[in-house]
Amino acid sequence: MAEHVCPWWMGYLLILPLRRLYENPTRILGPFVEPGMTVLDVGCAMGFFSLPLARLTGENGRVVCVDLQPRMIRTLERRAKRAGLVDRIESRVCTETSLTVEDMTGEIDFACVFHVVHEVPDASVLMAELYEVLRTGARMLVAEPAGHISVAEFAVTVALAEGAGFEIEARPVLKRSHAVLLCKPSNPG
Ligand SMILES: C[S@@+](CC[C@H](N)C(=O)[O-])C[C@H]1O[C@@H](n2cnc3c(N)ncnc32)[C@H](O)[C@@H]1O
Repeated sequence: MAEHVCPWWMGYLLILPLRRLYENPTRILGPFVEPGMTVLDVGCAMGFFSLPLARLTGENGRVVCVDLQPRMIRTLERRAKRAGLVDRIESRVCTETSLTVEDMTGEIDFACVFHVVHEVPDASVLMAELYEVLRTGARMLVAEPAGHISVAEFAVTVALAEGAGFEIEARPVLKRSHAVLLCKPSNPG
């Protein structure tokens, strides 16, 4: 595994309930997710955001969870089963350079891209891939950890997203993260 990728055992720390005190998934993502939606969770790890997303999309919705590391995906699947959410979650082990979601072009209603862009080798490739799979008018939330990603580095990520065709809709204020809400516009400029 490349050095910049979060080690699999860190996945257990990322799902600690304590994290919800400063990063509450339902509060953060609730405003953007509706029942019945198809949501993509990029770099889902063990599902800190995926399980709450599955509750938000409801029984007619779907959460497509992709991660590079099979151990993250295996634990996510176990947790989804225990939570009774396995029918709403589709998990995929992707590669470092592709989310392997080519079959979902224009199908995604919302993407959660939380603390993963800095681990991806080429963020411009990631943004282009996300642009392809989001439907027109769909939104995505990109957040990066303020602890080790500078404001200038985050600005580069946002510029790459704009370069791929996304428009900035809002700058949500999150504790410990830089964040941007992006939209795939109906009339690309
Ligand atoms: C810091 S963790 C964040 C996990 C989760 N989004 C969260 O906030 O709890 C980053 C995750 O992204 C995954 N990852 C790293 N590079 C990736 C890539 N190129 N494609 C997909 N996932 C990747 C890692 O395996 C890890 O599970």
